[in-house]
Amino acid sequence: MRQIGNNEELAQYIKWCSDHHKSVGFVPTMGALHPGHLSLVDIAANENDIVIVSIFVNPTQFNNAKDLEKYPRTLDKDAKLLTQTECNVIYTPSVSDVYPTSFIPRNADLGMLDTTLEGHYRPGHYVGVVSVVQRLFDLVQPQKAYFGRKDLQQVAVIKTMVKQFNYPIEIKVGETVREESGLALSSRNSLLTTTEKKEAVAISELLFEMREWSKVLDPLACETKAIKKFEETTMQLEYLSIIHPLTFENLIDEWVPGATVCIVAYCGEVRLIDNLELVPLT
Ligand code: PAF
Repeated sequence: MRQIGNNEELAQYIKWCSDHHKSVGFVPTMGALHPGHLSLVDIAANENDIVIVSIFVNPTQFNNAKDLEKYPRTLDKDAKLLTQTECNVIYTPSVSDVYPTSFIPRNADLGMLDTTLEGHYRPGHYVGVVSVVQRLFDLVQPQKAYFGRKDLQQVAVIKTMVKQFNYPIEIKVGETVREESGLALSSRNSLLTTTEKKEAVAISELLFEMREWSKVLDPLACETKAIKKFEETTMQLEYLSIIHPLTFENLIDEWVPGATVCIVAYCGEVRLIDNLELVPLT
């Protein structure tokens, strides 16, 4: 595995891939890698000749300076983990590599995705995600790019951007990887104390319970019951919403295939996100 830290070297490598007809699978990350990221690397390795993983903590997608400062940075550990995978290149650009003064990001029309759930609670977040992902796509020029289902709305945002900007890139989605307790793996979990980590399990427990409730209750009743139950935990709920998997519209009376519950809660100071499909897609 090779580490590339600047754009000139990356451009040379990408040219070599293209000259030698090597397909490139790209896994963009902000580091603090966990088995969820590594599962994306494995999928990418099965589907491409070359796998490139980027590690870049993108300042423009943090709407809270404290959150950016606290974000875990574990490059040495990440590089070690990646050497045990089939990753070919770890790309670690600087802020000026990603955002040279000449870079003017194009804005995608995200419609409701930019105003509901994450869009509502993290104003400007998706503008930052769209600008970093378009820049990384332009630099890496992959045929396929891999994202985790845990950030389901981000996946929808990126698919929208790819369509609007006509990127010839296939977006692939990896399943959420969970601890045995059910807790969704997240880079932010490393910020939880041992007690908080135990408390956080209540999030996934509730989501799986809702899957059962969805068989007998309508979406609104299921959502209301879940919000009430969450009040019994020590965590603070930011939102819990049952949504249409494509439009992200809140479901009220009728279930649709792929109906999904999305949740964000604070466990102590740590903002945790999760979602679960309640009704099978097919
Ligand atoms: O999901 C993430 O880790 C980030 O939002 C991404 C896609 C790497 C962009 O910075």
